[in-house]
Amino acid sequence: MTKPDLLMTGPMMQTIQDQLAQRFTLHKLWEATDKEAFLRHLAPSVVAFASGSHVPCDPALMGRFPGLKIVSSFGVGYDHVDAAWAGQNGIVVTNTPDVLNEEVADTALGLLLCTMRQFPQTDRYLRAGKWLEKPYPLTGTLRDRKVGILGLGRIGKAIARRLEAFNLPVVYHGRSAQPDVAYRYYPSLVEMARDVNVLMIVAPGGAATNKIVNREVLEALGPDGVVINVGRGTVVDEAALVEALRNKTILSAGLDVFEDEPRVPAELMAMDHVVLFPHVGSASVHTRNAMAQLVVDNLVAWANGNGPLTPVAETPWPPKH
Ligand code: NAP
Ligand code: 8YV
Repeated sequence: MTKPDLLMTGPMMQTIQDQLAQRFTLHKLWEATDKEAFLRHLAPSVVAFASGSHVPCDPALMGRFPGLKIVSSFGVGYDHVDAAWAGQNGIVVTNTPDVLNEEVADTALGLLLCTMRQFPQTDRYLRAGKWLEKPYPLTGTLRDRKVGILGLGRIGKAIARRLEAFNLPVVYHGRSAQPDVAYRYYPSLVEMARDVNVLMIVAPGGAATNKIVNREVLEALGPDGVVINVGRGTVVDEAALVEALRNKTILSAGLDVFEDEPRVPAELMAMDHVVLFPHVGSASVHTRNAMAQLVVDNLVAWANGNGPLTPVAETPWPPKH
């Protein structure tokens, strides 16, 4: 049996490459010396993509492959894939939901604690020998805080469960109220920001959320307010955030995601009252292996005629005509 042609758009975990090579003829775009010639040569035969977030899967790329039927993307967020265009052109897009919920929620709580209690700073203080001189200054606290979650989805709910165990009240904002959820819903993000002192961002990237956490939201959050972002950097107006941190419009921020990763604004790097993680929300061996397996399983299930396992909302399976 001839193996279908699959294009891997950028380097992916070795287990993904090894498993896919058993079921597909694997073509690695990043290894091609003449990418243009490589793409032209493959254009008539490729039926599947495996994709990370490093290469945008836009109409300019997908449109070169008239036989393309599936894009299996690594990660639950798929803002680097134009899924609406894919759906309109008969291409199913899959992502890796659920298998990372608990890991990312753990990271979110770790980041929140680090930001409030300054744990990374205390570590740096000890290593610099400063403890020998005097104790670390007293810090802020999670006590008496109320958390507003922007994006109470799969991960947001896992975060909310943890916050309940921490005895912290939770409210949320999204495009619509969820009838089966007991937390208070705010139709307005600004109004939620006004009523909380932690804004926990776990909403997806893309045009609809671009910079929705803007200066008005940060001003509403106020001088005791803390921003935690484990969603996407693009959800926040990063320049407005830097200004709000510099002017003490808000108290602090803990960020796992940035507008232009892996580049982080120098102003943020220079601030000792913020905590910065290099996008490690899901980055444990256990969880990355589970995500990798789902990338593979989606492609293999589709190639075996069983349909993809986790199609995204814009490309339902079986397709609606
Ligand atoms: P999900 O289940 O789809 O939840 C997304 C939530 O965002 C939903 O509750 C949705 O509520 C809300 N939302 C969507 N569009 C919105 C908009 N325009 N305005 C306001 N709220 C909006 O997704 P998930 O699995 O929890 O993942 C969420 C995101 O986390 C991913 O897309 C990804 O960007 C990010 N993530 C980051 C890491 C990391 O390493 N830091 C790891 C995994 C995921 P409504 O539908 O009611 O609006
Ligand atoms: C990954 C993520 O680090 O799943 C997501 O949306 O942001 C993370 O789990 C990322 O997708 C890897 O490129």
